Amino acid sequence: MSDRSVGVAFSVPYEIASVRHLRQTSLQERERALKACGFNCELLPEDAIYVDLCTDSGVSALSTAQIAAGSGNEAVEPAMGMATEASRAFASLSTQYRKFFGFPYLVPTTQGRAAERIWAKLHVKPGTVVPGNLLFPSTRMHIESNGGKVIDVIGDGAHNLQSEDPFKGDLDIEKLAAVFREHGPQQVSCIYIELGVNACGGHPVSLGNLKKVKAMAAGNRVPLFLDACRILENSYLVRQREAGCHDRSIREIVLETCDSADGCTMSAMKDLLVPLGGMIGTRDLVSFHKATLQSFLDGAQPPASAMQMIATALEEILAADAYVTSRVEQVNYLWRRLRERVPLVHPPAGHAVYIDLDAFLPHVAPENHRAEALAAFLYYISGVRVTKGAPPAPAQTARGIELLRLAVPARKYVQGHIDDVAAAILYAYAHRHEIRGLKRVEDPQRSKYQPYHFEPL
Ligand code: F0G
Repeated sequence: MSDRSVGVAFSVPYEIASVRHLRQTSLQERERALKACGFNCELLPEDAIYVDLCTDSGVSALSTAQIAAGSGNEAVEPAMGMATEASRAFASLSTQYRKFFGFPYLVPTTQGRAAERIWAKLHVKPGTVVPGNLLFPSTRMHIESNGGKVIDVIGDGAHNLQSEDPFKGDLDIEKLAAVFREHGPQQVSCIYIELGVNACGGHPVSLGNLKKVKAMAAGNRVPLFLDACRILENSYLVRQREAGCHDRSIREIVLETCDSADGCTMSAMKDLLVPLGGMIGTRDLVSFHKATLQSFLDGAQPPASAMQMIATALEEILAADAYVTSRVEQVNYLWRRLRERVPLVHPPAGHAVYIDLDAFLPHVAPENHRAEALAAFLYYISGVRVTKGAPPAPAQTARGIELLRLAVPARKYVQGHIDDVAAAILYAYAHRHEIRGLKRVEDPQRSKYQPYHFEPL
């Protein structure tokens, strides 16, 4: 029992201050909505959706303090120096960022991908390689567009969906050493590590592994960068699973995680609960100046309101461990409700639950769009929306791995919602033989850049 309570433990460290109504749609309405969007759930209108698990990015509820912090003057000055309001916000965000992440220099951006674009331009040389752990498609694309080649050096356990390995996000040190041997340190631009690896199940990276990678990076004079979008969930799972970390605070683990890296890019739209914002953290003054200039040239500077909201979120969510605990435990709860009957990726992670499509729909061929077909069925029976999301990493495609992510937005849904999602998925699994797959509609009126339309087989 905690020293703060007598008899009952606190669970959720916030209350709901403002709500948005959800319309309760009928089966017929959902059938019409599906037909209208060509059975592509990405195109469903927001007011036809009940619980939306399409992403955990940019869709969390703001706190009252964040709303107040974000309601300042948005003056923009056509000069490299920021407008007054923005410079005040930048100063307050930099202070918080240094305190919680430990990187001395911060370059705020509009999104994670803007941070990656700038950082890859500065640090990835043409013709070089970048070892990583199933990096997010935007990170991979920015590395590749600067002439770098991503080499996956994640441990093989990441591809074993059922194993209970607690740190499937870890890099395989032998594979990493082989990259240095084969290419030589000069040909390695940097090592990029994603925390809470989204592609394979949100699996965490351990502090022990980070330290080993850092030692190898330093020994070869190659910088180590983090994609820290989901550093909070990663830190929670480190505390839960890594020997010697059980009594440490999330704050300490976040600091130690960053301490292993030379720099970091991150989207603030996941863990930092804002609708807009990204960040680059670095220890190198020259990189800081170059990245600041590049963000000005790219128009990637965020408005003052976004910086104020991130600064406020940092203070609120890292004041104690209760918030991160409630966030990850909610995701865990959904995983536990499903694990007995539904083929899920094991073990549970911090931001999403992943369905193994091969095992869920063995009777549907991969070319019949299993992810979209299951998503459409789920929406039809329940109004719950999931989407296929980001494409898998090449190393997963090569192994025929196909996952459907149930991304749980932080601080948005209550337990009743999560129970309804669990009921819908259990129903879908019990009726999986009714799901026969989809085929793509070839429509000459639609350009190849528009999202696909489908029809049931
Ligand atoms: N890295 C990771 C691990 C991400 O999940 C994302 C975005 C980004 C980088 C890019 O950040 O969106 O701010 O530009 N993930 C969203 C998602 C889109 O739904 O997982 P961004």
